[in-house]
Amino acid sequence: MNKTASKPNKAAGERLVPIFVMGKRYEVPDSLTIQKALEYAGYMLVRGCGCRGGICGACGTVYRFPNSYRIEVGLACQTVVQPDMYIAQIPFFPGNKAVYDIESLPAVGGTIAALYPEVFKCVGCGTCTRSCPMDIDVLGYISKAVQGDIAAVAEGSFDCVMCGLCAARCPAEEVQFNIAILARRLYARHLVPKAEHLEKAVKAVEDKAFDKALQELKKKSLDELKKLYKSLETEPEMADESWTPQNKSYLGE
Ligand code: SF4
Ligand code: SF4
Ligand code: FES
Repeated sequence: MNKTASKPNKAAGERLVPIFVMGKRYEVPDSLTIQKALEYAGYMLVRGCGCRGGICGACGTVYRFPNSYRIEVGLACQTVVQPDMYIAQIPFFPGNKAVYDIESLPAVGGTIAALYPEVFKCVGCGTCTRSCPMDIDVLGYISKAVQGDIAAVAEGSFDCVMCGLCAARCPAEEVQFNIAILARRLYARHLVPKAEHLEKAVKAVEDKAFDKALQELKKKSLDELKKLYKSLETEPEMADESWTPQNKSYLGE
């Protein structure tokens, strides 16, 4: 997070509330998310900011209110400021991360325990579940990891955005999100049937089906690209899975 000189003007009618960023007091409109409030206060977010839509998990944030012992957590892009928040961001959580080759890893429950033996240290406190901004039953999937149930961990953690907030609060020092992504990789690579349409798409890439169209696009100017983008046929909101555009020249067909 860098500090910049510029500060946008407050819109008419908005109420200003005090917040504290790394100990320094700022007044920001009460309608803003923490992320927008940081920018309003003059910070330029170069880490801890990605999708701005609750998907990428880059903006994990901890905060606390005066006279409260409780540390609260949330995604900065999804949490609206409240008066007197003391805010600090956790753009990266330095959790244990096993290194493996997913192709050769056995898709059996014992693999999780072999790579993350600390999974057995879970004391079942549920702090991880209470910390999760995606409302995932984190304790639930960690319990399944202890049992070696790869499918249950993969399905139970499907919405994880890897923000790290669960790990930041865990008294057993688990890195739940890395355990979960191991299970999802094992599940997707070895246990579920392969998706035929994905196989087809991968083969098309390998056969260089898109190369000619990509080369043509690379030669275009920015204005030409914008015009082309605007003219693209877009998928209707209610389309079923069989929908494809009329013009398939960019699909390698
Ligand atoms: S916070 Fe840690 S110890 Fe507590 S339930 Fe979650 S994984 Fe287990
Ligand atoms: S499981 Fe952990 S890392 Fe994943 S979204 Fe929830 S708090 Fe974030
Ligand atoms: S910026 Fe991506 S989740 Fe907040």
